[in-house]
Amino acid sequence: MKAAGEKIVMVTAYDFAMARLMDAAGADMVLVGDSLGMVVQGQPDTLRVTLDEMAYHGRCVARGLTRAHLTIDMPFMSYQVSPAQALENAGRLVQEGMAQAVKLEGGARSAAAIRACVEAGIPVVGHVGLTPQSVHALGGFKVQGRGDAAAERVVADALAVQEAGAFCIVLEMVPAELAARLQTLLSIPTVGIGAGVDCDGQVLVCNDLLGFDAAFKPRFVKRYAELAPTIDAAARAYVADVKAGSFPAAEHSVDPGGRLYSSGK
Ligand code: KIV
Repeated sequence: MKAAGEKIVMVTAYDFAMARLMDAAGADMVLVGDSLGMVVQGQPDTLRVTLDEMAYHGRCVARGLTRAHLTIDMPFMSYQVSPAQALENAGRLVQEGMAQAVKLEGGARSAAAIRACVEAGIPVVGHVGLTPQSVHALGGFKVQGRGDAAAERVVADALAVQEAGAFCIVLEMVPAELAARLQTLLSIPTVGIGAGVDCDGQVLVCNDLLGFDAAFKPRFVKRYAELAPTIDAAARAYVADVKAGSFPAAEHSVDPGGRLYSSGK
């Protein structure tokens, strides 16, 4: 797709229903991101997400996919200790989470872990720029690669990821000019989030593009729906109907023939 100039669409999903919708909509790659720690579990960062949780959500998502490619994030401390640890845990995400690829954060420092997975036949997506698992080292969720020295560090990291065998790389929160340079420099596709228009593909968190949180509207997100007020209105209407006794109505009740569904089942 990079060679053909066809943009790659990646989106996160954390459960069966969302995976099925994103797959049907034509997403090329579905990512079970460890962002689930924040948008599903309500935590302030991604640091407490476990490998078991990633595998569980991976299985749920896999059941909803018919054609999209499934990547699962390796959570914090599941690959940093050693390449052997990375390989063992990547293998678990393939076997228990149905992953077709795993994603690891970090450039040069993660190269040995990436290489171990790739050499064992597990495809790897790299992730450089803002790497949320390093939020404390980075001093917050901040743009990376600003200024010459910082930009060179991101370039060196991206090259290290490619050299280690990753087939694709996520560029998160880096200046658009730096992402454009990397798109040309790297032979593997770049998938951006907050990284400008020149990446080979784009990724967004499904909750963000669908507007699940009315208060979270960073510049790099485009809202394709505003579901928070829609869901709020629907939930309030349901509460009001049950309180008023107007739901269920006769048509929502089991009929004398014992049918539960209008389809006749
Ligand atoms: O965890 C995640 O959802 C991610 C994407 C934002 C790239 O890593």
